[in-house]
Amino acid sequence: MKIAVIGTGYVGLVSGTCFAETGNAVTCVDIDQSKIDRLSHGKITIYEPGLEKMFLKNLRDGRLKFTSNLKQGIEGAQIVFLALPTPPGEDGSADLKYVLGVAGQLGQLLEDYKVIVDKSTVPVGTADKVRTAIAKHAKVEFDVVSNPEFLREGVAVEDFMKPDRVVIGVSSDRAKKVMGDLYAPFVRQGNPVIFMDEKSAELTKYAANSFLATKISFMNEIAQLCERLGADVDMVRRGIGSDERIGKRFLFPGIGYGGSCFPKDVQALIKSSEEVDYDFQILKSVEKVNEIQKTHLIPKIQSYFNHDLTGKHFALWGLAFKPNTDDIREAPALYIIESLLKSGATVSAYDPEAMNNVKDQLGNKIQFASNPYEALTKADALIIATEWSEFRTPDFNQINSQLKNKVIFDGRNLFSIPEIKELGYDYFSVGRN
Ligand SMILES: NC(=O)c1ccc[n+]([C@@H]2O[C@H](COP(=O)([O-])OP(=O)(O)OC[C@H]3O[C@@H](n4cnc5c(N)ncnc54)[C@H](O)[C@@H]3O)[C@@H](O)[C@H]2O)c1
Repeated sequence: MKIAVIGTGYVGLVSGTCFAETGNAVTCVDIDQSKIDRLSHGKITIYEPGLEKMFLKNLRDGRLKFTSNLKQGIEGAQIVFLALPTPPGEDGSADLKYVLGVAGQLGQLLEDYKVIVDKSTVPVGTADKVRTAIAKHAKVEFDVVSNPEFLREGVAVEDFMKPDRVVIGVSSDRAKKVMGDLYAPFVRQGNPVIFMDEKSAELTKYAANSFLATKISFMNEIAQLCERLGADVDMVRRGIGSDERIGKRFLFPGIGYGGSCFPKDVQALIKSSEEVDYDFQILKSVEKVNEIQKTHLIPKIQSYFNHDLTGKHFALWGLAFKPNTDDIREAPALYIIESLLKSGATVSAYDPEAMNNVKDQLGNKIQFASNPYEALTKADALIIATEWSEFRTPDFNQINSQLKNKVIFDGRNLFSIPEIKELGYDYFSVGRN
Protein backbone atom coordinates (compact mmCIF):
# COMPACT_ATOMS: atom_id res chain seq x y z
CA MET A 1 0.00 0.00 0.00
CA LYS A 2 1.04 3.58 -0.48
CA ILE A 3 0.97 5.54 2.76
CA ALA A 4 1.63 9.12 3.81
CA VAL A 5 2.47 10.03 7.40
CA ILE A 6 2.07 13.71 8.25
CA GLY A 7 4.23 14.75 11.20
CA THR A 8 7.57 12.96 11.50
CA GLY A 9 8.25 13.08 15.23
CA TYR A 10 8.37 10.15 17.66
CA VAL A 11 5.11 8.61 16.50
CA GLY A 12 5.34 9.57 12.82
CA LEU A 13 8.90 8.33 12.30
CA VAL A 14 8.34 5.06 14.15
CA SER A 15 4.98 4.40 12.42
CA GLY A 16 6.32 5.33 8.99
CA THR A 17 9.41 3.15 9.37
CA CYS A 18 7.44 0.17 10.68
CA PHE A 19 4.84 0.44 7.91
CA ALA A 20 7.71 0.49 5.38
CA GLU A 21 9.21 -2.56 7.10
CA THR A 22 6.10 -4.59 6.19
CA GLY A 23 6.46 -3.68 2.50
CA ASN A 24 4.42 -0.49 2.21
CA ALA A 25 5.69 2.55 0.30
CA VAL A 26 5.75 5.32 2.90
CA THR A 27 6.29 9.04 2.54
CA CYS A 28 6.78 10.95 5.79
CA VAL A 29 5.94 14.65 5.70
CA ASP A 30 7.07 17.34 8.11
CA ILE A 31 7.08 21.14 8.09
CA ASP A 32 10.53 21.13 9.68
CA GLN A 33 12.76 21.30 6.60
CA SER A 34 15.98 20.62 8.53
CA LYS A 35 14.44 17.43 9.97
CA ILE A 36 13.42 16.31 6.47
CA ASP A 37 16.92 17.06 5.12
CA ARG A 38 18.56 15.06 7.89
CA LEU A 39 16.23 12.10 7.50
CA SER A 40 16.54 12.11 3.70
CA HIS A 41 20.33 11.89 4.16
CA GLY A 42 20.08 8.90 6.46
CA LYS A 43 20.50 10.80 9.73
CA ILE A 44 18.04 9.63 12.34
CA THR A 45 16.45 12.41 14.40
CA ILE A 46 15.40 10.53 17.56
CA TYR A 47 16.92 7.80 19.68
CA GLU A 48 14.78 4.70 19.83
CA PRO A 49 16.25 1.18 20.19
CA GLY A 50 16.18 -0.74 16.90
CA LEU A 51 14.82 2.17 14.89
CA GLU A 52 17.96 3.38 13.13
CA LYS A 53 18.75 0.03 11.53
CA MET A 54 15.19 -0.40 10.26
CA PHE A 55 15.07 3.22 9.09
CA LEU A 56 18.33 2.92 7.12
CA LYS A 57 17.28 -0.35 5.50
CA ASN A 58 13.93 0.97 4.31
CA LEU A 59 15.44 4.28 3.20
CA ARG A 60 18.04 2.40 1.15
CA ASP A 61 15.41 0.10 -0.36
CA GLY A 62 13.31 3.10 -1.41
CA ARG A 63 10.26 2.21 0.66
CA LEU A 64 10.74 5.18 2.99
CA LYS A 65 10.82 8.76 1.69
CA PHE A 66 10.73 12.19 3.28
CA THR A 67 9.37 15.50 2.10
CA SER A 68 8.21 18.85 3.43
CA ASN A 69 5.74 19.18 0.57
CA LEU A 70 2.31 17.96 1.68
CA LYS A 71 0.92 17.78 -1.86
CA GLN A 72 3.79 15.58 -3.02
CA GLY A 73 3.69 13.55 0.18
CA ILE A 74 0.08 12.43 -0.22
CA GLU A 75 0.21 11.85 -3.98
CA GLY A 76 -1.13 8.38 -4.76
CA ALA A 77 -1.44 7.46 -1.07
CA GLN A 78 -4.42 5.33 -0.07
CA ILE A 79 -3.95 6.13 3.59
CA VAL A 80 -2.86 9.41 5.17
CA PHE A 81 -1.85 9.25 8.84
CA LEU A 82 -1.90 12.37 11.00
CA ALA A 83 0.86 12.05 13.61
CA LEU A 84 0.82 15.70 14.57
CA PRO A 85 1.41 17.33 17.95
CA THR A 86 -1.57 17.89 20.27
CA PRO A 87 0.08 19.94 23.02
CA PRO A 88 -1.88 21.31 25.95
CA GLY A 89 -3.45 24.67 25.27
CA GLU A 90 -3.48 27.40 27.91
CA ASP A 91 -6.45 25.82 29.71
CA GLY A 92 -4.99 22.28 29.60
CA SER A 93 -7.21 21.01 26.79
CA ALA A 94 -5.55 19.44 23.74
CA ASP A 95 -4.69 22.07 21.16
CA LEU A 96 -6.03 20.85 17.82
CA LYS A 97 -4.56 23.58 15.65
CA TYR A 98 -2.00 21.29 14.00
CA VAL A 99 -4.46 18.48 13.33
CA LEU A 100 -7.26 20.68 12.05
CA GLY A 101 -4.83 22.90 10.13
CA VAL A 102 -3.50 19.93 8.17
CA ALA A 103 -7.05 18.54 7.76
CA GLY A 104 -8.06 21.82 6.10
CA GLN A 105 -5.06 21.64 3.75
CA LEU A 106 -5.86 18.02 2.90
CA GLY A 107 -9.39 19.01 1.87
CA GLN A 108 -7.91 21.28 -0.78
CA LEU A 109 -5.38 18.73 -1.97
CA LEU A 110 -7.41 15.51 -2.20
CA GLU A 111 -7.73 14.28 -5.76
CA ASP A 112 -8.89 10.73 -5.13
CA TYR A 113 -10.41 8.63 -2.33
CA LYS A 114 -8.19 8.40 0.74
CA VAL A 115 -8.53 7.15 4.27
CA ILE A 116 -7.42 9.91 6.65
CA VAL A 117 -6.29 8.37 9.92
CA ASP A 118 -5.90 10.28 13.13
CA LYS A 119 -3.01 8.77 15.06
CA SER A 120 -2.46 11.78 17.29
CA THR A 121 -4.01 11.63 20.75
CA VAL A 122 -7.12 13.76 20.39
CA PRO A 123 -10.24 14.49 22.45
CA VAL A 124 -13.52 12.76 21.77
CA GLY A 125 -15.26 14.33 18.78
CA THR A 126 -12.06 15.21 16.87
CA ALA A 127 -12.76 12.72 14.06
CA ASP A 128 -15.96 14.66 13.35
CA LYS A 129 -14.05 17.95 13.39
CA VAL A 130 -11.41 16.55 11.03
CA ARG A 131 -14.17 15.30 8.73
CA THR A 132 -15.80 18.74 8.69
CA ALA A 133 -12.49 20.53 8.07
CA ILE A 134 -11.69 18.28 5.11
CA ALA A 135 -15.24 18.33 3.71
CA LYS A 136 -15.19 22.12 3.56
CA HIS A 137 -13.01 21.99 0.45
CA ALA A 138 -12.90 18.34 -0.67
CA LYS A 139 -14.37 17.46 -4.04
CA VAL A 140 -13.77 13.70 -3.73
CA GLU A 141 -14.86 10.98 -1.30
CA PHE A 142 -12.78 10.30 1.80
CA ASP A 143 -13.11 8.56 5.16
CA VAL A 144 -11.82 9.60 8.57
CA VAL A 145 -10.61 6.96 11.00
CA SER A 146 -9.37 7.19 14.57
CA ASN A 147 -6.39 4.92 15.23
CA PRO A 148 -4.76 5.98 18.51
CA GLU A 149 -1.17 4.94 19.06
CA PHE A 150 -0.11 2.99 22.15
CA LEU A 151 3.63 2.66 21.55
CA ARG A 152 5.90 3.32 24.50
CA GLU A 153 9.00 5.42 23.93
CA GLY A 154 12.05 3.28 24.62
CA VAL A 155 10.40 0.15 23.16
CA ALA A 156 8.49 1.88 20.39
CA VAL A 157 9.63 -0.33 17.52
CA GLU A 158 8.82 -3.52 19.39
CA ASP A 159 5.44 -2.12 20.46
CA PHE A 160 4.62 -1.05 16.93
CA MET A 161 5.69 -4.26 15.25
CA LYS A 162 3.94 -6.45 17.83
CA PRO A 163 1.19 -4.39 19.40
CA ASP A 164 -0.84 -5.79 22.31
CA ARG A 165 -3.84 -4.54 20.41
CA VAL A 166 -4.74 -2.19 17.59
CA VAL A 167 -7.69 0.10 18.20
CA ILE A 168 -9.53 1.39 15.16
CA GLY A 169 -12.48 3.74 15.35
CA VAL A 170 -14.23 3.60 12.01
CA SER A 171 -17.73 3.95 10.65
CA SER A 172 -17.19 3.06 6.98
CA ASP A 173 -16.84 -0.53 5.74
CA ARG A 174 -14.50 0.60 2.96
CA ALA A 175 -12.08 2.22 5.41
CA LYS A 176 -12.43 -0.72 7.82
CA LYS A 177 -11.20 -3.12 5.12
CA VAL A 178 -8.22 -0.86 4.25
CA MET A 179 -7.21 -0.58 7.91
CA GLY A 180 -7.66 -4.31 8.57
CA ASP A 181 -5.40 -5.16 5.60
CA LEU A 182 -2.75 -2.64 6.68
CA TYR A 183 -2.48 -4.01 10.21
CA ALA A 184 -2.78 -7.73 9.36
CA PRO A 185 1.02 -8.29 9.27
CA PHE A 186 1.38 -6.75 12.74
CA VAL A 187 -1.11 -9.04 14.49
CA ARG A 188 -0.21 -12.40 13.01
CA GLN A 189 0.27 -13.85 16.50
CA GLY A 190 -3.40 -13.25 17.17
CA ASN A 191 -3.38 -10.02 19.12
CA PRO A 192 -6.69 -8.27 18.53
CA VAL A 193 -7.57 -5.50 16.12
CA ILE A 194 -10.48 -3.91 17.96
CA PHE A 195 -12.89 -2.06 15.72
CA MET A 196 -15.20 0.44 17.37
CA ASP A 197 -16.80 3.83 16.76
CA GLU A 198 -14.49 6.84 16.50
CA LYS A 199 -15.50 8.41 19.80
CA SER A 200 -14.80 5.24 21.77
CA ALA A 201 -11.41 4.90 20.07
CA GLU A 202 -10.53 8.48 20.97
CA LEU A 203 -11.53 7.96 24.59
CA THR A 204 -9.74 4.58 24.78
CA LYS A 205 -6.39 6.30 24.36
CA TYR A 206 -7.02 8.84 27.12
CA ALA A 207 -8.46 6.15 29.38
CA ALA A 208 -5.37 3.95 28.90
CA ASN A 209 -2.85 6.70 29.66
CA SER A 210 -4.90 8.07 32.55
CA PHE A 211 -5.23 4.63 34.11
CA LEU A 212 -1.47 4.03 33.89
CA ALA A 213 -0.78 7.46 35.37
CA THR A 214 -3.21 6.59 38.16
CA LYS A 215 -1.29 3.39 38.92
CA ILE A 216 1.94 5.39 39.18
CA SER A 217 0.49 8.09 41.43
CA PHE A 218 -1.18 5.43 43.59
CA MET A 219 2.14 3.66 44.16
CA ASN A 220 3.85 6.98 44.83
CA GLU A 221 1.33 7.65 47.57
CA ILE A 222 1.91 4.17 49.00
CA ALA A 223 5.64 5.00 48.94
CA GLN A 224 4.96 8.20 50.89
CA LEU A 225 3.15 6.12 53.49
CA CYS A 226 5.97 3.56 53.59
CA GLU A 227 8.48 6.27 54.44
CA ARG A 228 6.30 7.53 57.27
CA LEU A 229 5.32 4.10 58.62
CA GLY A 230 8.66 2.34 58.26
CA ALA A 231 7.44 -0.14 55.62
CA ASP A 232 9.34 -1.03 52.42
CA VAL A 233 7.55 -0.14 49.19
CA ASP A 234 9.49 -2.79 47.25
CA MET A 235 8.01 -5.47 49.46
CA VAL A 236 4.52 -3.97 49.22
CA ARG A 237 4.89 -3.77 45.44
CA ARG A 238 5.78 -7.43 45.22
CA GLY A 239 3.07 -8.31 47.67
CA ILE A 240 0.32 -6.70 45.62
CA GLY A 241 1.78 -7.22 42.13
CA SER A 242 1.52 -10.98 42.39
CA ASP A 243 -2.27 -10.60 42.50
CA GLU A 244 -3.27 -11.06 38.85
CA ARG A 245 -6.05 -8.53 39.21
CA ILE A 246 -3.44 -5.88 40.02
CA GLY A 247 -0.52 -7.07 37.89
CA LYS A 248 3.23 -6.58 38.32
CA ARG A 249 3.73 -3.78 35.83
CA PHE A 250 3.58 -0.06 36.45
CA LEU A 251 3.87 -0.44 40.21
CA PHE A 252 7.32 1.06 40.60
CA PRO A 253 7.39 4.18 42.74
CA GLY A 254 9.73 7.00 41.76
CA ILE A 255 9.92 10.71 41.15
CA GLY A 256 6.75 10.95 39.11
CA TYR A 257 5.68 10.34 35.55
CA GLY A 258 6.84 12.68 32.79
CA GLY A 259 7.19 12.54 29.03
CA SER A 260 5.13 13.96 26.25
CA CYS A 261 2.00 11.91 26.93
CA PHE A 262 0.90 11.20 30.51
CA PRO A 263 1.03 14.77 31.86
CA LYS A 264 -0.76 16.30 28.88
CA ASP A 265 -3.25 13.46 28.41
CA VAL A 266 -4.28 13.45 32.08
CA GLN A 267 -4.74 17.20 31.87
CA ALA A 268 -6.72 16.97 28.64
CA LEU A 269 -9.08 14.32 30.01
CA ILE A 270 -9.75 16.42 33.11
CA LYS A 271 -10.55 19.32 30.78
CA SER A 272 -12.73 17.22 28.45
CA SER A 273 -14.66 16.02 31.51
CA GLU A 274 -15.23 19.59 32.69
CA GLU A 275 -16.60 20.48 29.28
CA VAL A 276 -19.38 17.93 29.77
CA ASP A 277 -19.95 18.98 33.41
CA TYR A 278 -18.13 16.03 34.92
CA ASP A 279 -15.65 16.47 37.73
CA PHE A 280 -13.04 13.71 37.22
CA GLN A 281 -11.89 13.68 40.82
CA ILE A 282 -9.47 10.75 40.70
CA LEU A 283 -7.54 12.25 37.81
CA LYS A 284 -7.23 15.62 39.51
CA SER A 285 -5.59 13.85 42.46
CA VAL A 286 -3.36 11.82 40.15
CA GLU A 287 -2.05 15.06 38.71
CA LYS A 288 -1.61 16.69 42.12
CA VAL A 289 0.29 13.69 43.51
CA ASN A 290 2.59 13.72 40.48
CA GLU A 291 3.37 17.41 40.90
CA ILE A 292 4.53 16.74 44.46
CA GLN A 293 6.42 13.58 43.53
CA LYS A 294 8.58 15.25 40.86
CA THR A 295 10.50 17.10 43.54
CA HIS A 296 10.23 14.38 46.20
CA LEU A 297 14.01 14.24 46.58
CA ILE A 298 14.44 17.97 47.12
CA PRO A 299 13.39 18.18 50.79
CA LYS A 300 15.64 15.19 51.51
CA ILE A 301 18.57 16.94 49.84
CA GLN A 302 17.77 20.22 51.61
CA SER A 303 17.54 18.54 54.97
CA TYR A 304 20.83 16.60 54.46
CA PHE A 305 22.67 19.84 53.75
CA ASN A 306 21.03 21.78 56.61
CA HIS A 307 18.75 23.71 54.27
CA ASP A 308 21.59 25.56 52.60
CA LEU A 309 22.53 24.45 49.10
CA THR A 310 24.43 27.63 48.21
CA GLY A 311 27.68 26.66 46.52
CA LYS A 312 26.91 22.94 46.69
CA HIS A 313 27.63 20.93 43.56
CA PHE A 314 25.52 17.94 42.50
CA ALA A 315 26.14 15.11 40.09
CA LEU A 316 22.94 14.12 38.31
CA TRP A 317 22.61 10.79 36.51
CA GLY A 318 19.76 10.62 34.03
CA LEU A 319 17.97 13.42 32.18
CA ALA A 320 15.51 11.60 29.90
CA PHE A 321 12.03 11.17 31.33
CA LYS A 322 12.62 7.42 31.23
CA PRO A 323 15.38 5.08 30.05
CA ASN A 324 16.02 4.18 26.40
CA THR A 325 14.79 7.46 25.01
CA ASP A 326 16.27 10.91 24.43
CA ASP A 327 12.90 12.54 25.14
CA ILE A 328 13.10 15.12 27.92
CA ARG A 329 9.59 16.52 27.69
CA GLU A 330 8.30 16.94 31.28
CA ALA A 331 11.29 14.96 32.58
CA PRO A 332 11.46 14.96 36.41
CA ALA A 333 15.22 15.61 36.15
CA LEU A 334 14.49 19.06 34.75
CA TYR A 335 12.37 19.96 37.76
CA ILE A 336 15.14 18.80 40.09
CA ILE A 337 17.71 20.86 38.19
CA GLU A 338 15.49 23.94 38.31
CA SER A 339 15.03 23.61 42.05
CA LEU A 340 18.75 23.05 42.72
CA LEU A 341 19.81 26.02 40.61
CA LYS A 342 17.25 28.21 42.35
CA SER A 343 18.78 27.22 45.69
CA GLY A 344 22.22 28.39 44.56
CA ALA A 345 23.65 24.95 43.75
CA THR A 346 25.43 23.85 40.57
CA VAL A 347 24.87 20.65 38.59
CA SER A 348 26.95 18.37 36.43
CA ALA A 349 24.78 15.91 34.51
CA TYR A 350 25.19 12.77 32.49
CA ASP A 351 22.68 10.91 30.33
CA PRO A 352 23.52 8.33 27.65
CA GLU A 353 21.16 9.83 25.03
CA ALA A 354 19.36 12.96 26.20
CA MET A 355 22.19 15.46 26.79
CA ASN A 356 21.91 17.24 23.43
CA ASN A 357 18.22 17.90 23.99
CA VAL A 358 18.93 19.33 27.46
CA LYS A 359 21.82 21.43 26.06
CA ASP A 360 19.35 22.93 23.57
CA GLN A 361 17.03 23.83 26.42
CA LEU A 362 19.38 24.81 29.26
CA GLY A 363 22.54 25.88 27.42
CA ASN A 364 25.37 26.39 29.89
CA LYS A 365 23.22 26.62 33.02
CA ILE A 366 24.57 23.21 33.98
CA GLN A 367 27.66 21.22 33.04
CA PHE A 368 27.51 18.07 30.94
CA ALA A 369 29.83 15.15 31.57
CA SER A 370 31.04 12.65 28.99
CA ASN A 371 30.46 9.69 31.30
CA PRO A 372 28.73 9.05 34.64
CA TYR A 373 31.94 9.18 36.67
CA GLU A 374 33.12 12.47 35.20
CA ALA A 375 29.88 14.03 36.45
CA LEU A 376 30.91 13.09 40.01
CA THR A 377 34.06 15.19 40.08
CA LYS A 378 34.02 17.33 43.24
CA ALA A 379 30.29 16.76 43.66
CA ASP A 380 28.77 16.97 47.12
CA ALA A 381 26.24 14.24 46.32
CA LEU A 382 24.93 12.02 43.55
CA ILE A 383 21.31 12.28 42.43
CA ILE A 384 19.75 9.61 40.20
CA ALA A 385 16.75 10.67 38.14
CA THR A 386 16.44 8.06 35.35
CA GLU A 387 16.84 4.30 35.66
CA TRP A 388 19.18 3.68 32.71
CA SER A 389 20.53 0.11 32.94
CA GLU A 390 24.13 1.33 33.02
CA PHE A 391 23.49 3.05 36.37
CA ARG A 392 22.33 -0.16 38.05
CA THR A 393 25.68 -1.73 38.82
CA PRO A 394 28.17 1.13 38.94
CA ASP A 395 31.74 1.00 40.18
CA PHE A 396 31.25 2.16 43.76
CA ASN A 397 35.00 2.53 44.29
CA GLN A 398 35.09 5.07 41.52
CA ILE A 399 32.03 6.84 42.88
CA ASN A 400 33.66 6.90 46.27
CA SER A 401 36.91 8.34 44.99
CA GLN A 402 35.18 11.25 43.25
CA LEU A 403 32.26 12.24 45.47
CA LYS A 404 33.02 14.61 48.34
CA ASN A 405 30.43 12.97 50.59
CA LYS A 406 29.25 9.38 50.49
CA VAL A 407 25.63 10.28 49.82
CA ILE A 408 23.23 9.22 47.08
CA PHE A 409 19.69 10.49 46.47
CA ASP A 410 18.06 7.88 44.27
CA GLY A 411 14.71 8.74 42.66
CA ARG A 412 14.44 5.32 40.99
CA ASN A 413 15.30 2.86 43.78
CA LEU A 414 18.20 1.31 41.87
CA PHE A 415 20.17 -0.14 44.77
CA SER A 416 19.55 -2.59 47.57
CA ILE A 417 19.46 -0.73 50.86
CA PRO A 418 21.48 -3.26 52.94
CA GLU A 419 24.19 -3.44 50.25
CA ILE A 420 24.58 0.28 49.82
CA LYS A 421 24.58 0.87 53.56
CA GLU A 422 27.23 -1.84 53.89
CA LEU A 423 29.35 0.23 51.49
CA GLY A 424 29.01 3.14 53.89
CA TYR A 425 26.73 5.41 51.91
CA ASP A 426 24.01 7.66 53.21
CA TYR A 427 21.28 6.58 50.84
CA PHE A 428 17.88 8.17 50.24
CA SER A 429 15.38 6.53 47.92
CA VAL A 430 11.59 6.45 47.47
CA GLY A 431 9.34 4.59 49.89
CA ARG A 432 12.19 2.77 51.64
CA ASN A 433 13.96 3.67 54.85
N1 LIG B 1 5.52 10.23 21.79
C1 LIG B 1 4.80 9.20 22.16
O1 LIG B 1 5.27 8.28 22.86
C2 LIG B 1 3.35 9.07 21.76
C3 LIG B 1 2.71 7.85 21.93
C4 LIG B 1 1.37 7.73 21.54
C5 LIG B 1 0.71 8.85 21.02
N2 LIG B 1 1.36 10.04 20.90
C6 LIG B 1 0.63 11.17 20.31
O2 LIG B 1 1.04 11.30 18.95
C7 LIG B 1 1.04 12.68 18.58
C8 LIG B 1 2.42 13.07 18.07
O3 LIG B 1 3.33 12.93 19.16
P1 LIG B 1 4.92 12.93 18.94
O4 LIG B 1 5.52 12.61 20.25
O5 LIG B 1 5.27 12.11 17.75
O6 LIG B 1 5.14 14.49 18.60
P2 LIG B 1 6.47 15.18 18.05
O7 LIG B 1 6.43 16.56 18.56
O8 LIG B 1 7.65 14.31 18.32
O9 LIG B 1 6.26 15.19 16.46
C9 LIG B 1 5.32 15.96 15.79
C10 LIG B 1 5.90 16.37 14.43
O10 LIG B 1 4.88 17.04 13.68
C11 LIG B 1 5.52 18.06 12.91
N3 LIG B 1 4.54 19.02 12.46
C12 LIG B 1 3.95 20.04 13.14
N4 LIG B 1 3.08 20.70 12.35
C13 LIG B 1 3.12 20.09 11.14
C14 LIG B 1 2.46 20.30 9.90
N5 LIG B 1 1.58 21.30 9.75
N6 LIG B 1 2.75 19.49 8.87
C15 LIG B 1 3.65 18.49 9.01
N7 LIG B 1 4.31 18.23 10.15
C16 LIG B 1 4.05 19.02 11.20
C17 LIG B 1 6.58 18.61 13.87
O11 LIG B 1 7.57 19.33 13.17
C18 LIG B 1 7.08 17.33 14.52
O12 LIG B 1 8.17 16.78 13.80
C19 LIG B 1 0.58 13.46 19.82
O13 LIG B 1 -0.82 13.64 19.75
C20 LIG B 1 0.91 12.50 20.95
O14 LIG B 1 0.11 12.70 22.06
C21 LIG B 1 2.67 10.17 21.24
